[in-house]
Amino acid sequence: MAKKNKKDTVVFFDTTLRDGEQSPGASLTFQEKLLVAQQLAAMNVDIIEAGFPISSQGDFDSVKSIAQQVKGPVICGLCRANTKDITTCWNAIKYSKKPRIHTFIATSDLHIEKKLQKTRQQVFDMAVNAVKLAKSFCDDVEFSAEDASRSDVDYLCSIIEAVIATGATTVNIPDTVGYAIPSEFGNLIATIKQRVKNIEKAVISVHCHNDLGLGVANSLAAIENGARQIECTVNGIGERAGNAAIEEIVMAIKTKPMFYPVNYNIKTKEIYKSSKLVSNLTGITVQPNKAIVGINAFAHESGIHQDGMLKDKRTYEIMSPQDVGVPESLLVLGKHSGRHAFFKRLKDLGYNKLQPEVMEQLFEKFKLLADKKKCVFDDDINSLVEQSVSGVKEVYTIDYVNVTSGVGVIPTATIRLVKTIKNKKEIIQEAACGSGPVDAAYKAIDKITGITVDLEDYTLRAISSGEDAQGEVNVKVKYNGAKYIGKGMSTDIVEASINAYIHAVNKIVIMQFGGKK
Ligand code: KIV
Ligand code: ZN
Repeated sequence: MAKKNKKDTVVFFDTTLRDGEQSPGASLTFQEKLLVAQQLAAMNVDIIEAGFPISSQGDFDSVKSIAQQVKGPVICGLCRANTKDITTCWNAIKYSKKPRIHTFIATSDLHIEKKLQKTRQQVFDMAVNAVKLAKSFCDDVEFSAEDASRSDVDYLCSIIEAVIATGATTVNIPDTVGYAIPSEFGNLIATIKQRVKNIEKAVISVHCHNDLGLGVANSLAAIENGARQIECTVNGIGERAGNAAIEEIVMAIKTKPMFYPVNYNIKTKEIYKSSKLVSNLTGITVQPNKAIVGINAFAHESGIHQDGMLKDKRTYEIMSPQDVGVPESLLVLGKHSGRHAFFKRLKDLGYNKLQPEVMEQLFEKFKLLADKKKCVFDDDINSLVEQSVSGVKEVYTIDYVNVTSGVGVIPTATIRLVKTIKNKKEIIQEAACGSGPVDAAYKAIDKITGITVDLEDYTLRAISSGEDAQGEVNVKVKYNGAKYIGKGMSTDIVEASINAYIHAVNKIVIMQFGGKK
């Protein structure tokens, strides 16, 4: 086995909050982004790409607050290779102790000619000028050659050499459209390492998309050939088929040290929690058979396998669930559990940074829930926390719900909501019929709020187990071209559905009407 040394550390650049947030319908609120960033810091990622500050005021504000509040990792912002983007990016990230500017421009002829409508020389000059400007603000500058895997290799090498000479400290080679295969991508990294004269002055990074399902394999091939920064996302979320999944790459390195004789800083025990948080907040569920974090990843169904596991776990387990932080104990709380037990469980689940008043509010909600269901599981508590800290102001809250449905009955809902704007409360009531009780309730809510949304997706699942399990509903709605996720839970699935819808509508009211609709 090759010896590890300090030089051979692979750093993890997490872009869940930038590329991951570009997943269709994955938009997160300001508070949710902060929560994810804090969890990424707890997992000890080396770099957090917090967003694309020029893309919207909301993105600028959240990158800025992550730079101000999240300690530990480098905080990075993305920008195109132009003055306005780079300056705006710097103004958002400069509050971090460890800021990084990440500037990019496409280098494939297809992108240069068709998308940018420029010449190779113009793109070359823009790349160098972008790095020069970024460097005037910040020591830590990353340059990405978008669509690198489809670029002319000589041209790509010449740009990389020039940006390093100008001061880029990391050069990123994206497989932007997930077109490469592992041997080809590994060769590209080896070629760059060989041909670019000043390559030792920068870290080679890769950023692999998953269009052919090869994002992780390509990233590992790149490590074998000298890449020392991996760009990836929690659960592999991202544009189209997503990005390489951080949990899969880290665990491959950990499990096969003879192939990857490198160090890494990730705390693998935080993986499961990160996965849960990201899937809960984005509404992008993890497939049951997903490697490392899927619900079945450590489940052994067949008798032969169970027998082997009882005799020696190594027969069918190449890594242990504890290594990735799958909770060991199924400690269950109930209505007799007190404040102390509840707060301890919150801490054990990793919620160490909650404000005392938030913990009190959570305890009240826990008590209400424990009255309704016998056993409160960890997943119930996770959902309570994630709902309470999403930071969505509750302009509309439920006051009264009555739904009727059945065979031979027209589904009808009567809903009364309380609308609160600046402490002024108004009670509004409406009734509507629909194709089912949930549809009727949603139509009544639309009448109350005056906001008619397109319901793009609706999912219902049971959180935890037992006949009194809570139903969790995720809705994706579209309004004015923007997509919002709403989440609701209750032991009553119609109530959970209404909670989810109101959660999404409250986001619209805050984000599109400044809380005044
Ligand atoms: O996929 C890509 O090329 C990107 C770059 C901006 C790094 O996301
Ligand atoms: Zn990307």
